[in-house]
Amino acid sequence: MHNVVIETERLILRPLTVADANEVFQWVSDERVSRYMVYNTYETVEQVIQWLRYIETETEEYHFGYVRKSDGKLIGSGSIGPDRKQSFWGFGYNFRYDCWGQGYATEAAKAMVKYAYNTLGARKFASSHVEPNKASGRVMEKCGLHFVGYGEFQKLDGSCKMRSMEYEGEL
Ligand SMILES: CC(C)(COP(=O)(O)OP(=O)(O)OC[C@H]1O[C@@H](n2cnc3c(N)ncnc32)[C@H](O)[C@@H]1OP(=O)(O)O)[C@@H](O)C(=O)NCCC(=O)NCCS
Repeated sequence: MHNVVIETERLILRPLTVADANEVFQWVSDERVSRYMVYNTYETVEQVIQWLRYIETETEEYHFGYVRKSDGKLIGSGSIGPDRKQSFWGFGYNFRYDCWGQGYATEAAKAMVKYAYNTLGARKFASSHVEPNKASGRVMEKCGLHFVGYGEFQKLDGSCKMRSMEYEGEL
């Protein structure tokens, strides 16, 4: 687990811990949020605790909880990290449904990309989204990536195959 904390205009990006389980459960249990993510909709807080324990052991991926400064609430999470061949850095994010449409994803994703660029030496970035999830594509574009082609999305358990849109950028 890393101990990186990043401050933006409206957010604090900081490591997630097991103590965040109840707040994280608010969005990972929400089908409107999970349907375009690789994870299946969470059914219990215990499942979230297991996931948070797992990411504490990860060394390459930088997972962040996004805390809204105005009220101290955790409103989303995401991560950035090198792919297996280290040829590019991938990133992703998800937010509580009632916080969509306020520019938070753009703010958080840009901050993660900037951190990876400035501090970790990352130059090539890539991400992708399920085709209908146009808002996520806009976030990627605003991070300096561009659409490079279609791919295939599937959930971690292999279910729910859908067409994806792939983005890359060299910054
Ligand atoms: C995708 C998600 C992270 C976007 O978060 P957000 O905080 O609402 O995003 P932002 O407000 O920073 O920006 C969204 C951009 O998409 C645009 N947008 C929103 N809905 C859109 C739509 N249906 N079609 C096209 N663009 C859309 C917004 O106008 C904005 O672009 P703009 O600044 O040029 O106007 C959020 O909807 C979410 O958590 N979804 C569920 C999880 C998920 O899909 N994660 C990404 C997986 S790849």
